[in-house]
Amino acid sequence: MKDGKKKAYFITIEGPEGAGKSSCADILTRHLEARGYPVICTREPGGTPLAEKLREVVKSKPDQDEVIHPETELLLMEAARAQHVREKISPALDSGISVICDRFTDSTCAYQGGGRNMDMGTIEFLNDFATGGCVPDFTLLLDLPPETGFERVVRRRSADADNDRFEAEALDFHRKVRSAFLALAEKYPQRFRVIDASQTLDNVVEQVEKVANELIF
Ligand SMILES: Nc1ncnc2c1ncn2[C@@H]1O[C@H](COP(=O)(O)OP(=O)(O)OP(=O)(O)O)[C@@H](O)[C@H]1O
Ligand SMILES: [Mg+2]
Repeated sequence: MKDGKKKAYFITIEGPEGAGKSSCADILTRHLEARGYPVICTREPGGTPLAEKLREVVKSKPDQDEVIHPETELLLMEAARAQHVREKISPALDSGISVICDRFTDSTCAYQGGGRNMDMGTIEFLNDFATGGCVPDFTLLLDLPPETGFERVVRRRSADADNDRFEAEALDFHRKVRSAFLALAEKYPQRFRVIDASQTLDNVVEQVEKVANELIF
């Protein structure tokens, strides 16, 4: 912060599968730490023991023939978020600790709204209910074609690992997710910064750090 006293920032990193969110969240956390900001790095769905259990449920394929319905999926995401915000994010911010979060409310708009065609007004209402109005200061959207992200995810995956329920969705689903993310960035230009994540990781990190320096330091 330019006036000397350090503010606690809430920064979310969004984007499709394999965009580099987790890599950039770690690097951005270290970038803030190195500049004297107390900071934690967390992720959604998850971030607390209970929310991580819900992550497991919502990402894995259910046993036998049962399907997870879109409404169930949405409410599981929001339940995990309600817990995460109250247990971890808000207490950190209240005590002056910045929070970097790998996915947050915008992923729900993009995946359940864009990907699954659920009503965006309902999702925004539930996002607001789950967060109690806790909105990120900044959101870095790592944008890239879904094909590129998938190539990276497949390369990262160990030979015996299965894809999760979202990775298993068709390319068309992921194209709708990408469009929904970009529409959110247009709708909330003050909060969003779009980063070209199709570049090399070094280049993406450079863009992320440049944006962080402009916004924060
Ligand atoms: N710009 C890049 N170029 C090439 N490889 C990359 C790039 N960014 C990340 N990777 C690699 O792609 C894989 C996915 O990166 P990462 O886990 O950071 O993405 P993610 O957005 O968190 O993915 P997911 O949505 O699956 O959580 C990792 O193996 C990572 O090292
Ligand atoms: Mg990740």
